[in-house]
Amino acid sequence: AQPHAPITLDTTSVDDVVGGRRMRRNRRTDWSRRMVRENTLTVDDLIWPIFLTDGEGVREAVPSMPGVERVSIDNAVRAAEEAAKLGIPAIALFPNTDPKLKDEMGSEALNPENLVCRACRTIKAEGIDVGLMTDVALDPYTSHGHDGLLLGEEILNDETVEQLTRQALLQVEAGADVIAPSDMMDGRIGAIRQALDRADHRNVQIMAYAAKYASAFYGPFRDAIGTNAALKGDKRTYQMDPANSDEALREVELDLAEGADMVMVKPGMPYLDIVRRVKDTFLVPTYAYQVSGEYAMIVAAGQNGWIDRDKAMMESLTAFKRAGADGILTYFGLEVAKRLKAGA
Ligand code: PBG
Repeated sequence: AQPHAPITLDTTSVDDVVGGRRMRRNRRTDWSRRMVRENTLTVDDLIWPIFLTDGEGVREAVPSMPGVERVSIDNAVRAAEEAAKLGIPAIALFPNTDPKLKDEMGSEALNPENLVCRACRTIKAEGIDVGLMTDVALDPYTSHGHDGLLLGEEILNDETVEQLTRQALLQVEAGADVIAPSDMMDGRIGAIRQALDRADHRNVQIMAYAAKYASAFYGPFRDAIGTNAALKGDKRTYQMDPANSDEALREVELDLAEGADMVMVKPGMPYLDIVRRVKDTFLVPTYAYQVSGEYAMIVAAGQNGWIDRDKAMMESLTAFKRAGADGILTYFGLEVAKRLKAGA
């Protein structure tokens, strides 16, 4: 028997079907693909998060985020220098706080000598030309791992906002350029903006974690800053329901009205529809956070040989641009900046 018996089709030719419209024509050569490309990732799109820890000369691996380390301030200075040299516009600082310093109130957030404040002062004193972003929320400092003050089962909104405002002021006094509230309390952007203006910090920018979802993708981050074990319950009374989209637009609208200069959607990849809606609706600088769980999935699948890690990394970041993001917070930041510089 013939394996491929010729079949006579009684249909029109492809030429007749497409009528001259062949989408593959533009894809044939590299130069043409580059010429018709709609979105391009550049180093200017990258914001690189850095995890801080106590001590000197310390570099600790974060097991659930292979390739990511917690570093002491001296090494954070080096990291900031490296980022600046590569042209990364901004870095974001997150502290792994000594458990002994954590309490119910998250008092350490108001210590001007806490890790984040010391890191800001040190990096600024070195005159490194990179934007310094700090996270405003209480979770690195509370014994219960929540972003706000806990009374019984309830996260208190207004009392938390007052503490967050003080935290933001301390960070700014220590040298932070961009304040990034990630707590999802109501009214915190307005309260922080007002306090900053009154204290003559009119030029300090606010990037609001405006649409932040109660997500399972934050797991490795909570390992990195040491809050996973402690966290009581979940964050669904303040972070958004993953099922909602219109609500994200209302969150963004409020944060902008309260004075946010830039807004963020978080997590990233599973929420690209939200990025697109926010960008199209408000036409403001819109960022996405490719969070720890997204990073871990790409790296782990790559380690298993199940996907091409580097290609998946570049593709995922390009997808943020296509969705309308003006920039991406990503743990791949430094690595991608190096690749882009090398022209890879
Ligand atoms: C805490 C905060 C979280 C992240 C950034 N700031 C975790 C959370 O809300 O529990 C997550 C970042 C990541 O997963 O990479 N306010």
